[in-house]
Amino acid sequence: MQKGSFSLTTSFQVFYMLLTLLGLYFSLIAGTQAECPVQLNRRRVVVRYGDSVAVNCNTSVQHQGIGWEASEGAVGMTKDKNLITWRVSELKEWVIKPYCFINYKTGEPCEVQLPVTVYKTPDNVSISTVDHSGPMMEGKQYKLQCDVHNVAPVQYLTVKWYKGETLLNQTIFTNTSETPVNETVTLQIRPDRDDDGAQYRCEAELDLGAEGPQPHPKNSSNPLNVEVYYKPRHSNSTETIIKKDEVILDCTVKANPAPRYTWRSDHLEEEISSSVLKSSTLSPGNYTCIATNARGNDSKVFIIKSTDNCIPIILGIIVPVVVISVILIYIYLTYYKKTRMGHYDVKKPKAHELLAQTEQSL
Ligand SMILES: *[C@@H]1O[C@H](CO)[C@@H](O)[C@H](O)[C@H]1NC(C)=O
Repeated sequence: MQKGSFSLTTSFQVFYMLLTLLGLYFSLIAGTQAECPVQLNRRRVVVRYGDSVAVNCNTSVQHQGIGWEASEGAVGMTKDKNLITWRVSELKEWVIKPYCFINYKTGEPCEVQLPVTVYKTPDNVSISTVDHSGPMMEGKQYKLQCDVHNVAPVQYLTVKWYKGETLLNQTIFTNTSETPVNETVTLQIRPDRDDDGAQYRCEAELDLGAEGPQPHPKNSSNPLNVEVYYKPRHSNSTETIIKKDEVILDCTVKANPAPRYTWRSDHLEEEISSSVLKSSTLSPGNYTCIATNARGNDSKVFIIKSTDNCIPIILGIIVPVVVISVILIYIYLTYYKKTRMGHYDVKKPKAHELLAQTEQSL
């Protein structure tokens, strides 16, 4: 019991000590600025290189002088004012660190810094292919390059790669240079057949934070059109066709460059180079079409079956249907006849009797 209460007191003391230390720590951190009795009307400014900027500094305490220090737009110390403005009509410095300072009665002179970010959108953003020109081969690897010229500050830059509207990749920069730089970014691609005709582009985006311009300034390269060479590839390697009046064998297949077509069959005498075979005189059998381009070839077999081959189908489906129908009709008729015979016994007039009746009435 005693032991327990002792440890409780100790932990309380430790906890209290920690709280005190924590309080001291925070007052030290926040103190330096919070204790300087001036307020800036902007927490941070983001200015385009060459644009104007103005930030107010004011105080509510009695003082012996307040002023702005800066390499441009400095305001000399004054005793008569409580509000002074740092103003630059054309800011043409990449690095500028203005601060507002005050000399007041009781305390030491103090100052508050104004963080300034000077930015510049790129002069040029361009895209190119590295060590290659002309069409690309399906499945091979290529390198695209994006050049961003004269941008600042690079730590706020993101270079994004797009294929059509799809974002492929993006790069950020850890370099903290505040003056303009040139950046080159590369992207590995392995185009496939669907990429034939695709448009790649890169875009330089400056995200300068909440105080920066919205939407973010974006500079895009021109689109880079990619041509991809790929061999023909049929979606099905065989197709069966039941011969009717006219048969159409369509071997058309996508490929780049456009494929040539050849046909092989025991039933063909002349050479055919069109992609579609349309005829009413083709004999049943196999017809092989080969589509070829510079990248390779792909063949497709068409199997023409004559309607003779349909006899099993006819026997298998139509005959049973007919037989069943006959049986049903027979059963129906038999039943029908029986019921009727039970009630009536009407003798149907014969044809020549009807004729005689007609003659009589005339
Ligand atoms: C960026 O590239 C341009 C053109 O190639 C060149 O004139 C300029 O000096 C380069 N800038 C830097 C910072 O390297």
